[in-house]
Amino acid sequence: MVILQQGDYVWMDLRTRREFEVPIGAVVKLCDSGQIQVIDDEGNEHWVSPQNAGHIKPMHPTSIHGVEDMIRLGDLNEAGILRNLLIRYRERLIYTYTGSILVAVNPYQLLPIYSPDQIRLYTNKKIGEMPPHIFAIADNCYFNMQRNNKDQCCIISGESGAGKTESTKLILQFLAAISGQHSWIEQQVLEANPILEAFGNAKTIRNDNSSRFGKYIDIHFNKRGAIEGAKIEQYLLEKSRVCRQAQEERNYHIFYCMLKGMSSEQKKMLGLKKATDYNYLSMEVLSDN
Ligand SMILES: Nc1ncnc2c1ncn2[C@@H]1O[C@H](COP(=O)(O)OP(=O)(O)OP(=O)(O)O)[C@@H](O)[C@H]1O
Ligand SMILES: [Mg+2]
Repeated sequence: MVILQQGDYVWMDLRTRREFEVPIGAVVKLCDSGQIQVIDDEGNEHWVSPQNAGHIKPMHPTSIHGVEDMIRLGDLNEAGILRNLLIRYRERLIYTYTGSILVAVNPYQLLPIYSPDQIRLYTNKKIGEMPPHIFAIADNCYFNMQRNNKDQCCIISGESGAGKTESTKLILQFLAAISGQHSWIEQQVLEANPILEAFGNAKTIRNDNSSRFGKYIDIHFNKRGAIEGAKIEQYLLEKSRVCRQAQEERNYHIFYCMLKGMSSEQKKMLGLKKATDYNYLSMEVLSDN
């Protein structure tokens, strides 16, 4: 039998929660006349009767305020991982480790954590020496490559809108900054992105800048650790989007750039018309007025 006191953290197994069928974190507010009053992580209040006390389990101390590395979680299960990410996210801590894997939660706002000062702070540090950060992963790859003379690989995965493209750009930004020489080739690697995104990214219902292709980037460094070249391979481009888009989705960004930036002669050569001649675009023009 578990004796709970006011202020104790618990897991509540509410099987009525349809979307995420995992226990939710809660704090005990009152333990009175057999009934227990708890407030869950979403701020909802529940009264739990002694018959239902089995739905409540004490929370491991590591889950109460969260941990930087989820390997350390005592309650290492789906609920424990989700709550850890949630409480860190509420403190604007979007990065969390699970061993050498970095989990990033999309903040949907520009956080002041990518400045040149931050790059300096994360340069040549061991993983775990500083709070979790995408720069720590990039730094680790770079210095392992130099130290062990071995190729390194970062795999970035996640659902649409999770932040893969932004994370890739942050890694490139870090590598370009610490590799020393600010060369023309380095600049070209960074500047290739807007062009690739113009031709391969489009607005979807999940992401205003969704990559509709896969990308494999090889960055080559010389013996001194400076970027010397890069190879970007693209695959599986969603070609059908050029002529047909689902409801509320759009063509590749380049289509709108062409309508806006090309002369009428150039547009005529490509069979393009004015923006107002396209049904989707003219609807937007009308609603804007
Ligand atoms: N670290 C971040 N800081 C601020 N905003 C971010 C960050 N990561 C992602 N975002 C925001 O989320 C949006 C979607 O992210 P991103 O395009 O990287 O997703 P994705 O995983 O590449 O999705 P897709 O699979 O559709 O290409 C970005 O346009 C940006 O507004
Ligand atoms: Mg993307």
